[in-house]
Amino acid sequence: MTQFTPRVLSGMQPTGNLHLGNYLGAMVNWVKMQDTHETLYCVVDLHAITQPTAVWGGPQVLRKSIREVAAAYMAAGIDPKKSVLFNQSRVHEHAELAWIFNCVARIGWLDRMTQFKEKAGKDKEKASVGLYDYPVLMAADILIYHATHVPVGEDQKQHLELCRDIAIKFNNDFETEFFPVTEPVIMGPATRVMSLRDGTKKMSKSDASDLSRINLTDSADDIAKKIRKAKTDADGLPSEAGGLKGRPEADNLVGIFAALAGETVEAVLQQFGGAQFSGFKNALADLAVAKLSPINSRMNQLLADPGYVESVLADGAERASAIAAPIMRDVKKIVGFTA
Ligand code: TRP
Repeated sequence: MTQFTPRVLSGMQPTGNLHLGNYLGAMVNWVKMQDTHETLYCVVDLHAITQPTAVWGGPQVLRKSIREVAAAYMAAGIDPKKSVLFNQSRVHEHAELAWIFNCVARIGWLDRMTQFKEKAGKDKEKASVGLYDYPVLMAADILIYHATHVPVGEDQKQHLELCRDIAIKFNNDFETEFFPVTEPVIMGPATRVMSLRDGTKKMSKSDASDLSRINLTDSADDIAKKIRKAKTDADGLPSEAGGLKGRPEADNLVGIFAALAGETVEAVLQQFGGAQFSGFKNALADLAVAKLSPINSRMNQLLADPGYVESVLADGAERASAIAAPIMRDVKKIVGFTA
């Protein structure tokens, strides 16, 4: 088997506000991986346009959203010197490899993708071809860098399995070991952040209620207000993790505390077990403000300097291209386009 150098790639769409779920569920891990791996993080703008224009807001909004997400990455601790930070559309090899993968992937594989069914809704005839093809482009994002590890949330597992299937089929079809069979790095359930209004639903930028999520752009007052208003049940905090079973809202708030504090759920319950939620919420609000306001102010600083953010993205795209271009050249030889 060919040995591949460990290389991490992940990405997020430039749609809407990033929130606590994105931060604890993904960015915190991305930041950590910078010290142990070669890392590439992209803003997946080609994926954004798979949805109707109204969802991503059209050209002006898109331009701004790309910068906002890049600024959020940096504010959260992605260091553009340690990581390659760029937006996908600037590196044309993503789209180029996606075409070749379109001819490797099978319609039957894509027909099984549950996220397409959810996103397309009832009227799938009206969904874009791009939305259907989304997972193939995602496989190209990963494999154009020979990335070996992809940190994503649980909801992306099926897409990563498809990426593995594409790598395996390409390698078989062309009798090569050119592409690595990428490992998913699924980030644990402890960092799955749920809605503050309904502990059974994921915290989401598309939830109609802004009280359901903590946005990275929220002020300290907003954060404190949202935590105070978060739904809980009538009981106090249990002293052991088992006592959170069947109490999704309590479980979520304790999980958020633990993740923000970098502690285990057990340690949090040792401290707060037996207490009422009102007191715990005050402590959680203080902690959330302490952790998130530096990110918030850094993000505002970065957004006030769009030229700087653009220059980071331009530099990132150049460094990403330097990895992608020779891989694409080899693919063209393997497929038979060039000698
Ligand atoms: N589909 C991913 C999501 O919605 C985003 C994404 C696109 C991605 N390309 C990727 C994640 C490549 C990891 C690697 O979260």
